[in-house]
Amino acid sequence: MKLLKQQQLDNDQIYTLDYEFDKNRLMDMFHELEPTNIYWPWHINEPSPWSKRGWSVRTVKAVFDGRAPRDSIHRYAYEILQHFGMGMVSFGFFHTKEHFEYPVHTDQGGRLKDNGPLASINVNLLDNPVPIKFTKELQDEPYSKSDDDHSYLYDSALINTSWPHYITTDNNERIVFRMAIFKPFDFYFAKDRIKSLGY
Ligand SMILES: [Fe+2]
Repeated sequence: MKLLKQQQLDNDQIYTLDYEFDKNRLMDMFHELEPTNIYWPWHINEPSPWSKRGWSVRTVKAVFDGRAPRDSIHRYAYEILQHFGMGMVSFGFFHTKEHFEYPVHTDQGGRLKDNGPLASINVNLLDNPVPIKFTKELQDEPYSKSDDDHSYLYDSALINTSWPHYITTDNNERIVFRMAIFKPFDFYFAKDRIKSLGY
């Protein structure tokens, strides 16, 4: 798989990483996780254009605390976390078929839940990546799209998932690796950490 030549982006929504992930190993992880695959809407889980798979925060933490065997997660996931050191994280993949539109949202799960990730490191695994779009201004619910929204194509990037965002897959399928980052880390803290590592 080729590395997409990406624009350098560094703003309140996205920070592109100057770091080369091993996409073959990420794809290997994607296949290993097949048994965990579930379809959106998650509570129904019937075949649909959007599915996800992965290891939860709880599983990853148990491995790091030595309460679960190290091979409960893929070796490369372990290496990535050791390398970036981001506190509470989950590992997973989003797989979205062509012509799917996911509405504007933040990853916090809304005002009531507020337990989702504040940021994530995303890596596009297919050759024609799908751009991520952000609302122009930082909005509160209800969110709305506009023609002035930002659209970014990236290969690998830190994403501010507390800024309202969405995707539209058009003609391209999308498979994205995602290391989701939870409190107490947020986008800005994670960005500083990544910069201090030289990426
Ligand atoms: Fe999201």
